[in-house]
Amino acid sequence: MEIGVFIPIGRNGWIVSTTSPQYNPSFELNKQTTLNAERYGFDFALSMIKLRGFGGESGFWDQNLESFTLMAGLAAVTSRIKLYATVPTLAVPPAIAARMAVTIDSISNGRFGLNIITGWQRPEYSQMGLWPGDEYFGRRYDFAAEYTQVMQDLWTTGVSNFKGEFFKMEDCRLSPQPQTPIKLISAGQSDAGMKYIAKYADYNFVFGMGYNTPTACAPTVDRLQKAAATSGRKVATYGLFMIITGETDAEAKAKWDLYKSGADHEALKWLTAQSSADTKSGADTNVRHMSSEVSNVNLNIGLLCGSHASVARMMDEVATIPGMAGVLLTFDEFVSGTKEFGERIQPLMKSRRHIQSEAPTQVAEVAE
Ligand SMILES: Cc1cc2nc3c(=O)[nH]c(=O)nc-3n(C[C@H](O)[C@H](O)[C@H](O)COP(=O)(O)O)c2cc1C
Repeated sequence: MEIGVFIPIGRNGWIVSTTSPQYNPSFELNKQTTLNAERYGFDFALSMIKLRGFGGESGFWDQNLESFTLMAGLAAVTSRIKLYATVPTLAVPPAIAARMAVTIDSISNGRFGLNIITGWQRPEYSQMGLWPGDEYFGRRYDFAAEYTQVMQDLWTTGVSNFKGEFFKMEDCRLSPQPQTPIKLISAGQSDAGMKYIAKYADYNFVFGMGYNTPTACAPTVDRLQKAAATSGRKVATYGLFMIITGETDAEAKAKWDLYKSGADHEALKWLTAQSSADTKSGADTNVRHMSSEVSNVNLNIGLLCGSHASVARMMDEVATIPGMAGVLLTFDEFVSGTKEFGERIQPLMKSRRHIQSEAPTQVAEVAE
């Protein structure tokens, strides 16, 4: 099973609370997190793009760095771990995104890929005059498909003459081409999102579900795998989980109880309002999943909470889900969390026996 870290590019990570660790994103925080991940044999690091926070007393996500530029910096200080940035397709033209990707491909020596998102929170884009109108909710994966086609043309042939509804290219050029094919992630879960994934993505992501129920997302993994199979392409599915750990189960649970007690209701109200604005994508969009159900304090990311041994056992259970290629992890605290995972949890996991911690960072020689 592969393991990735969803690095803390936004304020307070993934816990919408005033009693969880309060921190702002910085390059140093993300660098320490990613270097830890690399040292302990994680396979990849992904940063999201979020252009507007939820506000509230905790100022949740009000501070956010930019994904490509952050990953470019991380590419320069790492040597092995794969790196993924997220592209806001409404805000960055595809030929520019393709060129930025090629640049980070060069900085990272072929370790870079892209998470394609269509945007579910209108104010992120309307604040810049870039929201095309609410009809977009229903058309966003058509838009993403054309967007991806343009990038693929450029990466594989160096030129695009694509003529579609949303993009019209005229002898558009890109050179150099990436040294390694740029892998694409998408986390869409609506029907349209899944059709897009089946045709274009290499990896997709599902939300882990519930509290200490590591296999609860198995039916969703199955659904995504079946949808991907219709295209005859192989798409690897990853689950998103949060880890809260301690010396004992009771210590870990006490942390979670503390975080829940400080739920930032104003920020959560914003999330609910935004995630219900989309009336076009059907009931299965997982954006609604983030704000519904019981534990929206952590955006309903499946929680694995317990002692190191308990978390290791639950991680091994995740690895048994048919079609699950790996997990993407968030933590309540990322620097100590990645270290504790690497030193205390991973060594207990059967599904990670093949991993050995590595000495970090060697600078590659430049061919002249
Ligand atoms: C692992 C993961 C990463 C995501 N990254 C972002 C992101 O960076 N920015 C964003 O606006 N949405 C992000 N999303 C939301 C998805 O792109 C997608 O909109 C959402 O899962 C709903 O699926 P749907 O678009 O098919 O309705 C992410 C979701 C997951 C599970």
